[in-house]
Amino acid sequence: MNLFNVYPLYDITPVRAEDVFVYDSKGEQYLDLYGGHAVISIGHSHPHYVKSLKTQLEQIGFYSNAVQNPLQQKLADAIGEQSCLHKYELFLCNSGAEAIENALKLASFHTQKKRVIAFQNSFHGRTSAAVAVTDNSSINAPLNEQHQVTFISFDDFETLEKELKKGDVCALIFEAIQGVGGLDEPSEDFVYQMEELCNKYKVCLIADEVQAGFGRTGSFFAFQKYKINPHIITMAKGMGNGFPIGGILIHSEIKAKYGMLGTTFGGNHLACCASLAVLEILKKEDLQQKTKALEVFFRSKAAAIPQIKKIKGRGLMLGIEFDFEVAELRKTLIYKHHIFTGGSSNKNLIRILPPLTVKETHLEHFFNALKKALSSTN
Ligand SMILES: Cc1ncc(COP(=O)(O)O)c(C=O)c1O
Repeated sequence: MNLFNVYPLYDITPVRAEDVFVYDSKGEQYLDLYGGHAVISIGHSHPHYVKSLKTQLEQIGFYSNAVQNPLQQKLADAIGEQSCLHKYELFLCNSGAEAIENALKLASFHTQKKRVIAFQNSFHGRTSAAVAVTDNSSINAPLNEQHQVTFISFDDFETLEKELKKGDVCALIFEAIQGVGGLDEPSEDFVYQMEELCNKYKVCLIADEVQAGFGRTGSFFAFQKYKINPHIITMAKGMGNGFPIGGILIHSEIKAKYGMLGTTFGGNHLACCASLAVLEILKKEDLQQKTKALEVFFRSKAAAIPQIKKIKGRGLMLGIEFDFEVAELRKTLIYKHHIFTGGSSNKNLIRILPPLTVKETHLEHFFNALKKALSSTN
């Protein structure tokens, strides 16, 4: 049987990984500055993570949400403590898109309305409502188009109020730093305006932290750069360091009702254990704090390369923009210099999303390789 051919693949077969390195079937070492789409947070196969998962699997890997699972409460407590968000409750699922789907559904239940406001260049996933709020018509099927969504641009204060005022909007969904879209951010004034108007017009403000959350940007969630209280926060990628887990944090003003949300696999024992191990390492190794110094180092190195026209992002969610398309440059980096980087819908931008355990020496190695690649591709 063939695989359904939806991914254009690099011809590399990773068979082993450790910390910031991936090793292929030929024994070649690759520096991972992409973390498999921002998923690897505490480093590949971190010994504490591996040990915790092995021990958990020997005890119990899965049982359904029909019985008590104290690991879910332990995870909720740990997220509350490390994010300093105490007025929220946790619902667990299995992926980013599923978190978005649940967040939108909950907003609609809560407000009894159905239109959503989303942003140009957004990416929120590929399931029904998640893809409908994603600004990319090529991945929306006719089925997805049944959702009522209006896309507006960051910092368009006038349209924001005009749309919310209509009274039919259940949710406003935003990424504090756009991931797939290419690392653009709304202005601080606009973020506060979103919060104020959502409260005024009884709209749920949803912060999509699927990519930026879990310490990557230097705060636990990227929106925490501002003093706002979204009604719902979505998370996934870095949460499990590769084990599939997602979740939403729900403000206590939204009340739960039996059957409102549900899942078979979400919040299983292994998934909770993976996420708890991530939180333990984030804290023990002070990884969230360390991203700030690494960003400063990264920016200083990037500023010294004249071909780089713009440096974007925060912490270890970074982008470097050129005045040409970077596809060839990324190929040279991967095949010649053995460095994984990311692209985005901005074709001139390289995305850097390494494990949070990356060190200055690794970034130094990247910039040396980048200089060589730039001189060979130009
Ligand atoms: C901001 C954001 N939201 C949602 C998603 C969807 O997550 P998943 O691929 O786990 O469904 C992504 C994936 O890239 C993302 O970057």
